[in-house]
Amino acid sequence: MGYADQLFDVTDQVVLITGGSRGLGREMAFGLARCGADVVIASRSMDNCVAVAKEIEAETGRTALPYQVHVGRWDQLDGLVEAAYDAFGKIDTLINNAGMSPLYGKLSEVTEKLYDSVFNLNLKGPFRLSALVGERMVAAGRGSIINVSSAGSLRPSPDIIPYASAKAGLNAMTEGFARAFGPTVRVNTLMAGPFLTDVSKAWNLAERETDMFGHLSLKRAGHPSEIVGAALFLASDASSFTTGSIVRADGGIP
Ligand SMILES: NC(=O)c1ccc[n+]([C@@H]2O[C@H](COP(=O)([O-])OP(=O)(O)OC[C@H]3O[C@@H](n4cnc5c(N)ncnc54)[C@H](OP(=O)(O)O)[C@@H]3O)[C@@H](O)[C@H]2O)c1
Repeated sequence: MGYADQLFDVTDQVVLITGGSRGLGREMAFGLARCGADVVIASRSMDNCVAVAKEIEAETGRTALPYQVHVGRWDQLDGLVEAAYDAFGKIDTLINNAGMSPLYGKLSEVTEKLYDSVFNLNLKGPFRLSALVGERMVAAGRGSIINVSSAGSLRPSPDIIPYASAKAGLNAMTEGFARAFGPTVRVNTLMAGPFLTDVSKAWNLAERETDMFGHLSLKRAGHPSEIVGAALFLASDASSFTTGSIVRADGGIP
């Protein structure tokens, strides 16, 4: 094994990824399995989870467990955690990745239902999963939790205020859990900028006259595969002195 392979080693890790069926979650699941991890792929669509799990197993030879769950529903999360421990006996890395930011018109038209669903998925679910999995990681003597946040949590635009607020809460939650579960378990925020996933379809890129990404240092949106390096860093012992931090993969937002 070369030095970099040792430093970033996740061989035989078990990684639970919410929203692992599409977008950034799917890329992280594939990337970590390619590096030797077994993965739990959790999202609302069992068909999508099964399809991705089969692809991962076929390509990497690792085990991928599909699991249907609504991350915004507190009472469904114990079952997810139990299924992962039943199948693998451990979770080394939890990636709280599932998230969404629904479109709305005027701010006064944001319904309580929309507001609650955004907070339930982006903040409440990660809290419950971190609590359940983190305590078992502490008992096991190791673990890493990665909370996928958004650059919008630091610089909210008017069209994502509930989402940005929930993600800002997630940033705060990261620090709290890092203190709660340290020194055994590390908890970090992986802060994404614009990535070309299903989310970006709502941006109408072709119709935009102005360059939407001109303000970024890299002057472009990210390809989903460009999140994997940061996830591998945070999942592996390469980040053994990094906790409670924000790691940005955002193309250089000023
Ligand atoms: N793409 C970006 O530009 C960007 C920027 C900043 C931050 N982020 C953050 O990065 C994360 C991933 O975003 P993405 O762009 O990859 O999104 P995406 O392509 O829309 O994928 C979202 C994933 O989450 C799952 N999901 C959605 N709602 C769920 C729920 N209630 N319960 C369980 N799973 C659910 C989806 O599967 P199902 O539909 O089957 O449930 C899917 O696997 C999110 O937290 C997002 O806020 C993305």
